[in-house]
Amino acid sequence: MTAVAAGHPDNVQIVLAEKETLDRLTDLLLPSELQFLHAAAEREVKTCFFPRAQGAALVRLFAPSTDPAANAEDARLAGNDLLREIRQYKIERVTLHNYCRDNRMFQVAEGMALGNYQFLKYYTRPEKKEHSLREICLAGADPEAVAELDNLLDAVCLTRSLVNEPHSHFTATDLARAAEISAQQFGFEAEVLGMETLENLKMGGLLAVNQASDVPAQFIVLHYCPETARETAPIVLIGKGVVYDTGGLSLKPSDGMDYMKCDMAGAATVIGAIAVAAKNKLPVRLIGLIPATDNKIGERAMSPGDVIRMYSGDTVEVVNTDAEGRLILADALHYAKQYQPALVLDFATLTGAAVRALGSQAICYMGTAPQNVKSALEKSGWNTYERLVELPLWKEYGEELKSNIADLRNLGAGNAGMITAGKFLQHFAGDMPWLHLDIAGPAYLRHANGYRTKEGTGVGVRLLYDFLKNYSASITSPSAEALDDQ
Ligand code: BES
Ligand code: ZN
Ligand code: ZN
Repeated sequence: MTAVAAGHPDNVQIVLAEKETLDRLTDLLLPSELQFLHAAAEREVKTCFFPRAQGAALVRLFAPSTDPAANAEDARLAGNDLLREIRQYKIERVTLHNYCRDNRMFQVAEGMALGNYQFLKYYTRPEKKEHSLREICLAGADPEAVAELDNLLDAVCLTRSLVNEPHSHFTATDLARAAEISAQQFGFEAEVLGMETLENLKMGGLLAVNQASDVPAQFIVLHYCPETARETAPIVLIGKGVVYDTGGLSLKPSDGMDYMKCDMAGAATVIGAIAVAAKNKLPVRLIGLIPATDNKIGERAMSPGDVIRMYSGDTVEVVNTDAEGRLILADALHYAKQYQPALVLDFATLTGAAVRALGSQAICYMGTAPQNVKSALEKSGWNTYERLVELPLWKEYGEELKSNIADLRNLGAGNAGMITAGKFLQHFAGDMPWLHLDIAGPAYLRHANGYRTKEGTGVGVRLLYDFLKNYSASITSPSAEALDDQ
């Protein structure tokens, strides 16, 4: 992970500027260089490189618009572009200097650090592949704000790495172990319910999906409860933890199965989000719930048509064993009720329909939480460019889930699959204020896209951090209603 730090002069100075602010660079550049830059700016050139006896200066020119979200994303992408620019020089440390009217250093550093992420664990000679950049310094920045960003980037990279772990090396018990290790590292608590407890609780959805597995199902419960928020109702974050999805007996075609190690991305997001909230000591009480298993085939596997009894007591006709995510999430939603949460957010790589609808550029979301919460979350989506699109949960979609033989079936009629999946979850969310985020599209990329490196993207961690930070401000200052002010 590339660290971000405050201070340190070093070999490459990266200067962030705008055409309008070039005259402020007189202490950094020679008059001839400034003249060159002015001309370059006229031609809409974006970067200029000036070699120096000691290191070099790289000037990046921004042309901001009136849209702050677009400007922030432009700066992150610029960070990633700059990274590519300097990669050939095998530089270990750069220092950013802000000469823009708005400070762009933090977003540039964010894009640089995230673009520099690599998952090299399974190469026998990782040093051959490793990028050189180790540290990004932010000249003159507030060290606390820099540390806050560094922790956030750490958490995003943690989430990416959990998703990138192949199933051969990462089962449900490994996921539980990883949650415990992260809890220790970042400062929260993890508790793992094993098979015996799950059987006693009759968590029928999770147990049914786990039926054909060699590895026991795990129900991971995370707690972050700072003194400052002890008396408040918690936010419950639920993450789908299917460490591998073959589809079960409703087997997936082989070209849809090869990246199903990503089916625990929701779980990884929940771990990452609680990790950064804890590390940065956000005054908000959080519970994380992760039902974890693989979805395998075998003699004991569920058969399409089976009827199972869920943790809530409802019966479900399992028409398609590949619609397994909703079965395990339903049990987690029912488990969440005991906390009387202020809000429940679930994250899941739930449907191919979400991927077909929005691709990797947005999260499909839906739910029953009040409008001010939805608006705040959408706002965080723009702030972090992990954008959200809301879909309706009209009751007509729910009619498709009626079964001839049980309380509910786990499959809709075909179209709008992300919504019928949402309707299924809504049944188990009951009257808790709840939102479901289907991250199947943006959670995992076959090819890098800007600073989102290939495979696990860590989507949801930056979104949640922004959301939770605003939310905690709204509950800790009694007069201000930060969420309403958004
Ligand atoms: N894990 C998949 C959804 C998925 C698809 C995730 C593509 C990431 C990328 C989920 O368990 C699944 O198989 N969903 C089925 C549901 C269907 C059988 C109703 C789907 O969307 O095809
Ligand atoms: Zn599936
Ligand atoms: Zn799945």
